[in-house]
Amino acid sequence: MTKDTEERYGSITRFFHWSMALLISWQFLKFFDRIADGEHWVGQTLVPWHISIGTLLLFLVAARLIWARTQDARPAQQADMAFLVKAGHGLLYAGMALLPITGVLTMIGGGHGWTAFGIELVASGEEIPWMASLGSLHSPIAWLLLILVVGHIAMALLHHFVRKEEVLQRMA
Ligand code: HEM
Ligand code: HEM
Repeated sequence: MTKDTEERYGSITRFFHWSMALLISWQFLKFFDRIADGEHWVGQTLVPWHISIGTLLLFLVAARLIWARTQDARPAQQADMAFLVKAGHGLLYAGMALLPITGVLTMIGGGHGWTAFGIELVASGEEIPWMASLGSLHSPIAWLLLILVVGHIAMALLHHFVRKEEVLQRMA
């Protein structure tokens, strides 16, 4: 089933969810640059893809937001928790959108241009201070998204293993 229903998320939502979860986890490896200035295996083999994968995530989040908005039905949340769940998922979406945006602002604002998968999207040029200062929010937003994702995973596991509710199944 491609579309979401009241019982479970459809294949397209599940594709967005799990492919982006994987790519965002990859992006978090950028934190490892703080160790020995990235002079290690992670820093040398996985982190150099940061801008390309981040650019891919920018397109994926835009498509996912459009897809989510066009769904007539979605699995229902427990009535007393519905607001909190909606707010939590909304913040996850905000983080997923703001990180690529501030990343691009960091690059263009710093005069480095924007190149993804070997394709030059914006040539390097002069520094643009207002873009660079908005871009400096990239790191704090990355920390916030990391905290949100840890909380989100903890809630999913709590529903599944402790409360024995069928929440994980509808995204699996
Ligand atoms: C969802 C997508 C993204 C995630 C999850 C993400 C995550 C991160 C993380 C965790 C760091 C390390 C921050 C720190 O050590 O404090 C970082 C740094 C950085 N990212 Fe991203 N990023 C994303 C997209 C992008 C994109 C699209 C670009 C550029 C076009 C970019 C450019 C940078 C740069 C230049 C840095 C180093 C400077 C800084 O910390 O601001 N990122 N990112
Ligand atoms: C970077 C990592 C992740 C992000 C950004 C993320 C984001 C989201 C978002 C925005 C939703 C709302 C549905 C949608 O619009 O797609 C959602 C639902 C869900 N996620 Fe994640 N997720 C991540 C990782 C995980 C992991 C690792 C698990 C499992 C341990 C998980 C389990 C679930 C479940 C069970 C739901 C359905 C909750 C419900 O609506 O009842 N997520 N996720």
